[in-house]
Amino acid sequence: PSKITKIACIGAGYVGGPTMSVIAQQCPHIQVTVVDLNVQRIAAWNDPDLSKLPVYEPGLDEVVGEARGRNLFFSTDVDKAIHEAQMIFMAVNTPTKTFGVGRGMAADLKYVELCARQIARVADEDKIIVEKSTLPVRTAESIKTILESETKGIKFKVLSNPEFLAEGTAIEDLYKSDRVLIGGDEDEDGQIAIQALVDVYANWIPREKIITTRLWSSELSKLTANAFLAQRISSINSISALCEQTGADVDEVARAIGMDTRIGSKFLKSSVGFGGSCFQKDILNLVYLCHHFNLPEVANYWEQVVILNDYQKHRFAKRIIDKLFNTVSGKKITFLGWAFKKDTNDTRESAAIYVADELLQDRAEIHIFDPKVSEEQVHSDLVYLQKHRRSQATAYEYEEITSEEIKKLVVVHTDPYSAMEKAHAIAVLTEWDEFKTYDWQKVYDTMLKPAFVFDGRNILDRTKLTEIGFNLHSIGKG
Ligand code: NAD
Ligand code: UDX
Repeated sequence: PSKITKIACIGAGYVGGPTMSVIAQQCPHIQVTVVDLNVQRIAAWNDPDLSKLPVYEPGLDEVVGEARGRNLFFSTDVDKAIHEAQMIFMAVNTPTKTFGVGRGMAADLKYVELCARQIARVADEDKIIVEKSTLPVRTAESIKTILESETKGIKFKVLSNPEFLAEGTAIEDLYKSDRVLIGGDEDEDGQIAIQALVDVYANWIPREKIITTRLWSSELSKLTANAFLAQRISSINSISALCEQTGADVDEVARAIGMDTRIGSKFLKSSVGFGGSCFQKDILNLVYLCHHFNLPEVANYWEQVVILNDYQKHRFAKRIIDKLFNTVSGKKITFLGWAFKKDTNDTRESAAIYVADELLQDRAEIHIFDPKVSEEQVHSDLVYLQKHRRSQATAYEYEEITSEEIKKLVVVHTDPYSAMEKAHAIAVLTEWDEFKTYDWQKVYDTMLKPAFVFDGRNILDRTKLTEIGFNLHSIGKG
């Protein structure tokens, strides 16, 4: 089929939800059904109250509000959606394996494999399968093998269409993508399938921004893009350590080098370390692939990006402990922010989790305020880390902290001022805009003295806070 009228997407998460909502909004002539095994998640996508959508993204509520019920549907009936659609996106999770072969490194492809098996079983006419999930190079080959294992005389065409949206700006990114990448086979059927997907995007993306490549190039481009982006953050973070020792200012250095058009100014913001569900996972996946293809020098080169990031998170936690006279046990440390970046409720791999864990090793009392993250989420992030530490992450010594201790030592607030009252120190972990506009004099007055602030995002007004009397420590400012 070259004119697509029905699309299904398996996986209603941070990628499947927003991407399909935008496709549906921009292509009213296409029926888009997003399916998921997670009943609660689908119920939340269908909630009449648009503030209850399972993914928080600026502008997403409006897009869903416009298209849902018209040509956008959320459902748990995976078989029906597969059966009806001419084109099926796979947007399931591909987390780092936590067990067995490739533990702590390789991508776990079990959800992708399950989808492929289900499609093979249910389909009874030709389908185009689109890899939206981020996958290791040559996964399309495995998917094809599974699809073709049920010999029903049906033709499947597999395309790779990696997603480049960033959380917090997903809708904007989907409206104005720098590029849309579609990889497919070079044969005639492959080209027809590519054209069908190009036609979908061409409804709102200028044609010259839609690039088509071979399958393997497309799959590898996604891992490469994330590796390059993360590499820039680790590079500037490595320099932040040197700034702190020498009296240079990392923001000034970033500005000075970023004005060189060959370097560019984006992704040079020094921080407590990058988080999110993608960067670490995708680099480790790349490292694993390089080892698989016997390229240890290449593997080690990229692994260093993750090692430096572990170091940056550790450096931040250690600095808090050092400055608080070498112990935080029993002290109230307040975290502003828990999400991995602003404007999202996503906490996966957030630097805050690791910094909290390291402070908990010393039995600090951690009080948290984040505008979008719930107490359940914070606790479950910390409990999860105890069970699934990457054995490679050796930045600090640790022992397992029980969930009872976590419940006792970690308090989540819904009011920032109560979170900061009587605190020994405040640490900024996420760059939420509202943190800049708090009444810092009022905060200072209620805190224990000396009043320490550790700004892990360099967003607070240094002159003002120092004048008030805070003992302020920023990233990369000597
Ligand atoms: P997610 O965990 O938010 O969502 C995945 C969903 O798939 C879950 O709701 C899960 O229940 C569902 N699922 C898993 N197996 C299923 C099955 N067999 N049938 C039906 N539903 C199933 O993950 P995400 O953040 O949306 O990421 C999805 C993929 O996109 C990953 O490969 C990720 O690397 C990639 N990606 C993510 C981002 C991002 O910003 N989060 C950006 C680009 C690419
Ligand atoms: C990333 C990629 O940007 C996106 O293209 C891909 O599709 C998915 O992975 P995401 O993880 O959602 O997106 O957010 P991003 O804006 O890249 O931020 C990732 C982490 O890096 C965050 O913790 C952020 O705070 C941090 N970061 C980003 C910095 O520390 N400094 C920077 O200059 C930029």
